[in-house]
Amino acid sequence: MRVLITGGAGFIGSHLAEAYLERGDEVYIIDDLSTGSLYNIKELKENERFKNKLFIHIDTILNHNTMLELTGTCDIVFHLAAAVGVQYILNNPLESIKTNIQGTEKVLELCDKFKKKVLIASTSEVYGKHLHAPLVETDNIIYGPSSKFRWSYAATKLMDEFTALAYYRTTGLEVIITRLFNTVGPKQTGAYGMVIPRFVSQALKNEPLTVYGDGNQTRTFTYVKDVVEALMTLVETNGAVGEVFNVGGTEEISIIDLAKRIIKETGSKSTIKLIPYDEAFGKDFEDMQRRVPGTEKINKLIGFEPKTDFDTMLRKIIRYMKKK
Ligand SMILES: NC(=O)c1ccc[n+]([C@@H]2O[C@H](COP(=O)([O-])OP(=O)(O)OC[C@H]3O[C@@H](n4cnc5c(N)ncnc54)[C@H](O)[C@@H]3O)[C@@H](O)[C@H]2O)c1
Repeated sequence: MRVLITGGAGFIGSHLAEAYLERGDEVYIIDDLSTGSLYNIKELKENERFKNKLFIHIDTILNHNTMLELTGTCDIVFHLAAAVGVQYILNNPLESIKTNIQGTEKVLELCDKFKKKVLIASTSEVYGKHLHAPLVETDNIIYGPSSKFRWSYAATKLMDEFTALAYYRTTGLEVIITRLFNTVGPKQTGAYGMVIPRFVSQALKNEPLTVYGDGNQTRTFTYVKDVVEALMTLVETNGAVGEVFNVGGTEEISIIDLAKRIIKETGSKSTIKLIPYDEAFGKDFEDMQRRVPGTEKINKLIGFEPKTDFDTMLRKIIRYMKKK
């Protein structure tokens, strides 16, 4: 099978590429390296077993001709390319909207032209500022005002979902939408606001771990290999087409406890420093206090349960970051 992965030099995309290559498939990557990096796919490029199986295009998904050729060539499309990370969105407000709206529209238009099945990577952020848990796919959505720019990420991803579902309803395009909750693992960068790599990097340098707000906000974390397995299973499952799925783990941890566990696990001398949100992100920011996925829908369809427990994933990330 020929698999096109937009954003394939990114964190999740590079793990997905590896999984398909290991299975013997051909992988085509398009990535503009805005937040991804060639380092993420270096080992794949250098692996003799994957010679003539991996094709890398450093380009933007907004380039019609490149996308036309790639979509026409491949059998299935995983659309992961996006402007990602709170810090990146706040620093690049206009470009982020263009990538997430126009880029996804381009992907869907071409998938429809060639009738290629497409999986869209959406996000738990689309739920907005809920306090209840778990969040289920049919829940209402609550955003802050447009003056708080952090919501633009959620709003663009929600628009991507609507566009994909509109293609499904109008032309019968086979689309699958996955709302990924915090996904973690080796290769994730802390540069754009992702909490675990940021904390681990600070801990390894014995610098204070900077916790935003009071640290009582909670998250769940899912290991990237478990997420990749879920995505690969969903695209092979007929009942998934035209549907939206939460993908995530359900073990909730507060950010302050996360910081403490990372200090302990790394044997660091770091302290914890609380930083008010305003100071960290400016006035455009609001946090979400809780974000726990309801996973009944995906569990019922494909039996998805995260396999990797929190301590194991933390150790794998620390080992990778020490080596890097
Ligand atoms: N990691 C998470 O916890 C998480 C959670 C929810 C949703 N997601 C979604 O999963 C997808 C992958 O995220 P990730 O964590 O691997 O982040 P990432 O930043 O590592 O991956 C995104 C990739 O897209 C590329 N890209 C961005 N704009 C592009 C463009 N115009 N053309 C081509 N490539 C472009 C980047 O260079 C990067 O390699 C994203 O769509 C993101 O919204 C991730």
